[in-house]
Amino acid sequence: MTTALIASTFLLAAAAWGWHRSAVARRAALEALRERAESVAACSAEVERLRAGLSGASDGLIVVDERGLVAASNPAARDIANLPDQDHRGARIEDLVAWPKLHAALRRCRDDHTPQKFELEIDEGEPHARRLSVRCQPLPGRGAVVGIDDQSRIRRLESLRRDFVANVSHELKTPLTAIQGFVETVLDDPEMSTPTRTRFLERIAQQTQRLTTLVSDLLTLSRLDDDKAIMSPEPVDMVTVIQDAVRDLMPIAEREDLEMVVELPDQQLLVRAEQEALRQVAGNLIDNALKYTPERGVVTLRLTNTGGEALRLEVVDTGIGLSKEDQERVFERFYRVDRARSRQLGGTGLGLSIVKNTVLNLGGEMGVKSEVGVGSLFWIQLPLAQPPAEPTPDAAR
Ligand SMILES: Nc1ncnc2c1ncn2[C@@H]1O[C@H](COP(=O)(O)OP(=O)(O)OP(=O)(O)O)[C@@H](O)[C@H]1O
Ligand SMILES: [Mg+2]
Repeated sequence: MTTALIASTFLLAAAAWGWHRSAVARRAALEALRERAESVAACSAEVERLRAGLSGASDGLIVVDERGLVAASNPAARDIANLPDQDHRGARIEDLVAWPKLHAALRRCRDDHTPQKFELEIDEGEPHARRLSVRCQPLPGRGAVVGIDDQSRIRRLESLRRDFVANVSHELKTPLTAIQGFVETVLDDPEMSTPTRTRFLERIAQQTQRLTTLVSDLLTLSRLDDDKAIMSPEPVDMVTVIQDAVRDLMPIAEREDLEMVVELPDQQLLVRAEQEALRQVAGNLIDNALKYTPERGVVTLRLTNTGGEALRLEVVDTGIGLSKEDQERVFERFYRVDRARSRQLGGTGLGLSIVKNTVLNLGGEMGVKSEVGVGSLFWIQLPLAQPPAEPTPDAAR
């Protein structure tokens, strides 16, 4: 009996010890699993962060493994190096990018484990030529990251800025020189008759007005560069804006013997934008149509709802028209087909660039169709303000 008791106690103790040992082992295994899961989660978060960084980066980035096979690339690299659209992970870098300088740099980077840097001119002499600055950074395990910086974009921007400053200076200098000339003439001749003096003073007033317009156009443009600057919390009715612009410009149409045809919808078309910005857009387009249409021509304004989402304004004229090349450039700052004629008509060449920047700032689109000697159609589309949501029965209570 005692022996049986001792034996069963021993068995029980052994089972308990075994159970205890396996519980400890299970806990340890669970703990290890939890740690592994945490590190996998941390890794995937890191990978996600890197992936987001890679795809958002403006520099091109290509990761190459120790065998020289592409492990990852971002959209900018695919764009700059003109890589095919399909997934090219696992492809040899030599087969994808035909830049011998890059292949040599990657070899050096792998063999010496040192960063490499070089400049590259691609498609030299072509209009789409690019100047690239390329860096290869070694990775642990003999892989490498290739960073490609497209410097042509910055150079293009710098050249645009230089042109802009030159244009502004020129446009300011012309009226200033004229004003200086008129003032000196009046000062040099104390005996000048009153009618002649008045004529000179009128010219001075005209040129001063030109300077004021130019400076206010430049201020408008710089404000438009600031994203969403002209969004307004209160929606504005575009039908009223067009009616006001027509009323203001009708005297010019009558003076030039031009017919104005206005087609407006019966209902309001609301846009979430500053009234003054919309007035300027409509005013610029109508003003151009009137300026560049000879006597007895017709200017038609058509405002429609494109199906609930956007409004479309078309300004059609039977004027001098624009060639294909000019149609591509009219929205550029200071671009004028006939500089002398535009200046004589009091233009600064900023009207359409203000239209373009305003429309883009409001999330819209614009364009032009034209034929020389036949006429032009300028159009814009702007997103309509969403009507306030109908109150639900609960909210109404
Ligand atoms: N309806 C049109 N028909 C023919 N040419 C046009 C028309 N609208 C614009 N253009 C051409 O595009 C150029 C640029 O137009 P934009 O409105 O930017 O400047 P502008 O009218 O010369 O001056 P601003 O608008 O600053 O008073 C004009 O100089 C003209 O050559
Ligand atoms: Mg204009």
